[in-house]
Amino acid sequence: KVHRIACIPGDGIGTEITEAAIQVLTTLQKTLGWFSSTIFGRLFMILKLALLLGTFEFDFTHLDWSSKAYLERGWYMPPDWADQLRKHDAIYFGAVGWPDVPDHISLWNLILPIRKVMSQYVNLRPTRILEGIASPMANVKREDLDWVIVRENSEGEYSGQGGTSHEDTPHAVATEISIFSQVGIERIMHFAFQTALSRPRKKLTMVTKSNAQRHGMVLWDKVFYTVAKEYPDVEIDKMLVDAMTVRMVLHPASLDTIVATNLHADILSDLAAALSGSIGIAPSSNLDPTRKNPSMFEPIHGSAPDIAGKGIANPVGAFWSAAEMVRWLGEEKAADTLMKAIENVTQAGVKTKDLGGSENTKGVTEAVCKEIEKV
Ligand code: NAI
Ligand code: MG
Repeated sequence: KVHRIACIPGDGIGTEITEAAIQVLTTLQKTLGWFSSTIFGRLFMILKLALLLGTFEFDFTHLDWSSKAYLERGWYMPPDWADQLRKHDAIYFGAVGWPDVPDHISLWNLILPIRKVMSQYVNLRPTRILEGIASPMANVKREDLDWVIVRENSEGEYSGQGGTSHEDTPHAVATEISIFSQVGIERIMHFAFQTALSRPRKKLTMVTKSNAQRHGMVLWDKVFYTVAKEYPDVEIDKMLVDAMTVRMVLHPASLDTIVATNLHADILSDLAAALSGSIGIAPSSNLDPTRKNPSMFEPIHGSAPDIAGKGIANPVGAFWSAAEMVRWLGEEKAADTLMKAIENVTQAGVKTKDLGGSENTKGVTEAVCKEIEKV
């Protein structure tokens, strides 16, 4: 099976970690896929083919949609961008944002329209402490932290509605309107309950700020309790977002699956990533659960201009995101192999500086490729 992947490396370390991810995916394809490199591998593949078992190949399309390109030609994506993306089975994304372009321009010209137009209404962010990594918080043990954050990805605080009057005067007034629809909340709640149900602890915590925000957040609460009736096997509880930050740090073992709005989950997942070792390791999947559009996979971090060009970015978040993509594409074994390879490498202490190690991007990437080849 050929999986067509649209690659958008974007800006800063986005380009560095995407290159590393493609190298790892290519190794995975060579080792487990159609282009198996060893004689035995090829024989095995032919046998598999004869038995009509799945073999796979990645076909990458490189899309130069970045801030650098925007500064040169005046646009991020061409007018037919959505049609181009829909010709693919998945989208792999690095990061967007560069100091020469205001961040609201870069985000609203690239990543946010893709999430919206491709109906990727779920942003799934698993967090756990990988082998060989320690949380920067001494109280947080490996076995205590194993969460999945389900982020609403299509509306809420990032709906883009609002405006500014009397701009650039002392009387400027701006509105930033959050949109919460019954339909939008229901679909994310169903996804969150199903996620909780698929995990051993079957536990779902819903986060809002419905004491102070009295419309949209109250509707969230209401829909949550209504949908909960359809999932009697899931244990539920409800948190206000401010108290949730404290609970994540002090009582991580009390949490499992977490569902929150676009903004709240964005913030909580950076905290989750930090608690699990570094923002450089956390993955995310922007999913269209109906599979009518390609889903998009990206590490949660940004373009990190402070370390860009130095070759020291941690590629683990990019690899983990690639593993999530491979799993979404139905290649379970390849996804498991990649995750095992990543954890063998972190366990062996081959780590970048953000994790207290001394390796660079290239060193970690080559180590992960070697581990894949060992399988
Ligand atoms: P950031 O995630 O780029 O960086 C935050 C800090 O973490 C920096 O000190 C950086 O060096 C470090 N860091 C991030 N990823 C790392 C990695 N893989 N390895 C080692 N260290 C890593 O967030 P920041 O600085 O707030 O934003 C920088 C730019 O990225 C902005 O233009 C922002 O808008 C954009 N951004 C884009 C996102 C996306 O494309 N989805 C997400 C978040 C930010
Ligand atoms: Mg973020």
